[in-house]
Amino acid sequence: IKTQVGIIGAGPSGMVLANWLKKHDIDAVVIELRSREYVEGRVRAGLVEQNTKDILKELGLDARMKKEGIVHDGVYLSFDEERVHIPFGELTGGRTITIYGQQEITKDLTDAWLQEGGELHFETMATKIVDFDTKRPKIHFEKDDEEGILECDFVAACDGFHGIGRKTLPKKSFHSYDITYPFSWLGILANVAPSTDELIYAYHENGFALHSLRSETVSRLYVQVDNDESVDNWSDDRIWSELSQRLAAPGFDLEKGPIFEKSITPMRSHMIDSLRSGRLLLAGDAAHIVPPTGGKGMNLAIADVKHMVDAFVAYYKTNSEKLLDTYTNDALRRIWRAQDFSNFMTKLFHKQDAHGSFTYRLQKAKVDYLKVSKAYRTTIAENYVGLPFESFK
Ligand code: FAD
Ligand code: DHB
Repeated sequence: IKTQVGIIGAGPSGMVLANWLKKHDIDAVVIELRSREYVEGRVRAGLVEQNTKDILKELGLDARMKKEGIVHDGVYLSFDEERVHIPFGELTGGRTITIYGQQEITKDLTDAWLQEGGELHFETMATKIVDFDTKRPKIHFEKDDEEGILECDFVAACDGFHGIGRKTLPKKSFHSYDITYPFSWLGILANVAPSTDELIYAYHENGFALHSLRSETVSRLYVQVDNDESVDNWSDDRIWSELSQRLAAPGFDLEKGPIFEKSITPMRSHMIDSLRSGRLLLAGDAAHIVPPTGGKGMNLAIADVKHMVDAFVAYYKTNSEKLLDTYTNDALRRIWRAQDFSNFMTKLFHKQDAHGSFTYRLQKAKVDYLKVSKAYRTTIAENYVGLPFESFK
């Protein structure tokens, strides 16, 4: 197979890239390890930032999100059962977030790509990336026990944390940074109307909890658990009991309902400081992981793709390699901002040390400050909805 940009991975970053390149008449072929059913059924993030909404709109792929997504103009931050409201629109000049499942975005992008005749090979594993220091890199792949080669001008590794993109970068070309947090999230989906109109992030002496949602009839909630926990130890009753305690506030009642999905996600920060080697470029989870508090993972993956598209368009339309050369630094400025914000939100709302300890007092001091300072509320609001691309120029 031959193309201009060979894309590994049909997650949000890979599929935004494919559709965006098509708009500029740049050819791409996508290779995806898993089946279509698996990719579309994978339950992950749900928070869509303003920039991501703008990108999907520009691509003409936001029709279903506009219809089914739920726009939120604020968020509740709860500490020891006391809530502070952060109104986004007022603090950020009208920017908002939308709640719409990542797998729905991926489905919309995949449908559009296939309808336009785009080439996408499911159940096809990229096994090796070679010759990326030449003008004709190649992706070796396996499908149904047969081997093939995708020859391209550039390889876009959008293949997530466990993909081969990062492993292929020459070891000496980057530094990596890792934090493993001493807690995980147990996430559930339940058939029950959300008990809140906007998301609630809560610190409680039992640990962190988050109330999110998916629709008028489906709620998405998370509780902080130990890293060695198993979902088997968490009956529905135990989950609802912890959620009710941790999300408690005067006059608030948590509605309970049948839980139909439970999974545990470890929390880590991972970074590398180079996203490119020759004609191999990385985007999204392939290059960075943020802890989920703040909902940045998917948004960051799609933001990387914006810089990648700018670089490919400049190359193909004006024969300039300038934006390829600045790709890493252009993307890294936003990624570090999101790493800091995700780390900040994680530390602010998780139980890290004994309730009443020095660490707890610092957490509480920050939330107390939030109550009195519009500047501090604005800092949270502008990071939460995502800073505009122009801010990082
Ligand atoms: P991915 O979505 O991981 O896509 C990469 C794709 O590449 C996958 O489809 C994979 O199958 C494919 N692939 C991998 N290797 C190969 C190969 N060798 N050949 C071909 N294809 C390959 N973020 C939040 O903000 N909130 C959350 O609640 C949240 N929950 C999460 C839960 C889980 C279990 C995980 C793993 C992530 C979660 N995230 C969350 C993070 C967010 O979902 C990711 O940041 C986002 O998916 C990144 O998109 P991506 O396109 O870079 O990578
Ligand atoms: C969701 C996930 C997050 O990590 C977050 O910060 C907010 C919402 C969600 O799945 O809806």
